[in-house]
Amino acid sequence: MATDTNTLQAIISHAKEYGFIFPSSEIYDGLQAVYDYGQMGSELKKNIKDAWWKSMTQLQDNIVGIDAAIFMHPTTWKASGHVDNFNDPMIDNKDSKKRYRVDHLIEGHAEQLKADGKEKESEDLLAAMDALIAKDDFAGLKDLIDSNKIKCAISGTCNWTDIRQFNLMFSTEFGSTASSDDADNKIYLRPETAQGIFVNFLNVQKTGRMKIPFGIAQIGKAFRNEIVARQFIFRMREFEQMEMQFFIRPGTQDEWYEFWKAERLKWHLSLGLPAEKYRYHDHVKLAHYAKAACDIEFEFPIGFKELEGIHSRGDFDLSQHQEYSKKKQQYFDNDVDPATGKPYGNYIPYVIETSIGLDRMFLAVMSNAYMEQDLSTAEKQDSRVVLKFPAKLAPIKMAVLPLTKKDGLPEIAAGIINSCKSSFRCFYEEKDSIGKRYRRMDALGTPFCVTVDHQTKEDNTVTIRYRDSMEQERIPIDKLKEVVLQAIE
Ligand code: GAP
Repeated sequence: MATDTNTLQAIISHAKEYGFIFPSSEIYDGLQAVYDYGQMGSELKKNIKDAWWKSMTQLQDNIVGIDAAIFMHPTTWKASGHVDNFNDPMIDNKDSKKRYRVDHLIEGHAEQLKADGKEKESEDLLAAMDALIAKDDFAGLKDLIDSNKIKCAISGTCNWTDIRQFNLMFSTEFGSTASSDDADNKIYLRPETAQGIFVNFLNVQKTGRMKIPFGIAQIGKAFRNEIVARQFIFRMREFEQMEMQFFIRPGTQDEWYEFWKAERLKWHLSLGLPAEKYRYHDHVKLAHYAKAACDIEFEFPIGFKELEGIHSRGDFDLSQHQEYSKKKQQYFDNDVDPATGKPYGNYIPYVIETSIGLDRMFLAVMSNAYMEQDLSTAEKQDSRVVLKFPAKLAPIKMAVLPLTKKDGLPEIAAGIINSCKSSFRCFYEEKDSIGKRYRRMDALGTPFCVTVDHQTKEDNTVTIRYRDSMEQERIPIDKLKEVVLQAIE
């Protein structure tokens, strides 16, 4: 499918209007590439998180979860390679000596073009920049700056240095005596959660008596000073990752890599997301830690893009931590090697990593669910916006709607909610006509609406309306819980 920025725009507006996602600190005009999850968004996000956690820990025999701190000893990032290798391009003006992030400089020029009414030129410039950044083509970026005669805001000249690398990690100072030029106190906001797992490898292995192969899973925030950050929650500066490091015997990496590639795709499909929106993409250009890497790509409104990464990391991380910490990161394997008839003995395990962005998964679920449906008939024009979330992930599972605000109907509705709310999220709504309330629940992605009417008082039945088919049927109140629970299992 071609890139569909209109759909992305519609999703962004819908997400804001219905309390899923707000720009961060919006009253101060927001903060680029940082977002807040609202009352509906935080429920959806939590449901995705819970589904991942359950499938990666509870349903596995040999994977446990941890929750490591965001702050880590600064040497962690030296050992992991992030201090030296986790970079983006920047450029200096030779006259003013001012340093610019290349993307900021070009974006500033694009803004100016737009303000001057040259929208097409502005868009073309940004598209050219994104393509060059994706290829790490610094010479091409420099040519782009030169050919567009982009000037320094201070000197007003186009006298630029070559482009150099800029580290993507955010840093801050640690401790009460910190000052910004005290390098010893510099501490990083973690750019991935993985290192919190590696430095705890032996703690977990020993205290949990884990036997290889085993995994450690974690969900948590990560921070990157991203260079291209204009795609809503697809690329954020503060985001959340769901990562799992699977520790294995060296030599078994190829089979485990294939295993986790297949296993992770199965998880996505088990949530009810369509297979045709997924594909694998094998990496040619590998990250500094990887021996082999593959993306699980999803067809977002902006095209097929990386949703999750599966990486064969070898013993890179544990070896690096062993070298920098001077603490052995070995495992003693007393299983017998059939080739020698002796135990495998001591080794630094290899690692297969699965790493998915929670926010990106949120966008995948949201963009797959978002539909604008024309419901017009010969008699009347009609339409609806509906979020067809898998029931398991929907923020609200069941809305209970009394037909009127009187005659005891609200009390019956409240009773239904009280009997179900410990099992799943319910919602009560009595304002507006039933039709309008259905539409609002469609827009929030609520799979079941239950209407309490006067007949309910006579026979204890209610109308249940199914979001996707919009069909309605009458069922006894005491069957409701079962219907909903079956759908969200
Ligand atoms: N530990 C390995 C690692 O961090 P990565 O490919 O850089 O690998 C893994 O990131 C996943 O994290 C990506 O597939 C993506 O879903 C998510 N991710 C990375 N950068 C992101 C960003 N700036 N905003 C949102 N999600 C991001």
